[in-house]
Amino acid sequence: MTDYTTLLVERHDAVTLVRLNRPQALNALNSQVLAELIDAFAAYDADDSQHCLVLTGSEKAFAAGADIKEMQAQGFADMYSANFFAGWERVTDTRKPWIAAVSGFALGGGCEVAMMADFIIAGDNAKFGQPEIKLGVTPGMGGSQRLAAAVGKAKAMEMCLTGRMMGAEEAEKAGLVARVVPAASLVEEALKTAAEIAAMPPLAAIAAKEMVNAAFELPLAQGVKFERRLFHGLFGTQDQKEGMAAFVEKRPGKWTGK
Ligand code: HXC
Repeated sequence: MTDYTTLLVERHDAVTLVRLNRPQALNALNSQVLAELIDAFAAYDADDSQHCLVLTGSEKAFAAGADIKEMQAQGFADMYSANFFAGWERVTDTRKPWIAAVSGFALGGGCEVAMMADFIIAGDNAKFGQPEIKLGVTPGMGGSQRLAAAVGKAKAMEMCLTGRMMGAEEAEKAGLVARVVPAASLVEEALKTAAEIAAMPPLAAIAAKEMVNAAFELPLAQGVKFERRLFHGLFGTQDQKEGMAAFVEKRPGKWTGK
């Protein structure tokens, strides 16, 4: 699938830029958006010429949440039998690095999708929130878990219980975002960071991503062992030979991804 109706996809050399594009609904995440994102992320993961991806929205909204109008009439049996939202695991299964570039509202499912990224770069106008409680529900795409991991119990609990929005500056202080940049240069800055990542040895980038993610899944001793095994494994790659030779020979490395 390349003919998306809710996404705009561009290639910038080795970086894929995906823009959520439902401006009339502030990029609310409906089933169509999810299906298209699954497709776009799978295509990125499978494309040997692409090494980092940036997901962004509009200046006003990264995404204002899951589509309330689509969910409104659903009952428990509908949600349970469709395993509603389970498809997002296909997005979080992406092996290569990706960044969320957040401008404006990242609310509910929008905040949850941003937190699925390897990290978030925020425009100085970004507003993060989990306001689902005001609709009689809760986060349902991993938000309670990822927000608590990112900002700790106190802020996560406060945000999920009150629906309060967190601005960009507070989000950076709290550890939710890696960096805040002027909203006007958000996409440019995110593409620059993505190009830096895309210029790294690809297998080392995948391994680095896997091991940092393991820190949120494994007890410390097992995580340290997992890291060490991946580190050992990289000594079986051509790029390790090239990287260390290039250092010794005082020249830039040329990566093959092998
Ligand atoms: C469907 C949405 C939407 C959403 C906005 N729209 N958010 N449609 N689902 N999540 C639509 C509005 O209905 C409106 O359509 C248009 O987008 C513009 O929105 P306005 O409200 O007119 O804009 P504004 O006044 O600027 O307010 C912006 C806003 C507000 C503060 C972001 O839209 C808002 O509060 N949105 C909902 C935020 C939210 O509750 N998100 C959580 C969703 S639940 P029309 O046709 O009227 O012009 C969720 C669940 C996750 O994410 C998992 C749990 C099950």
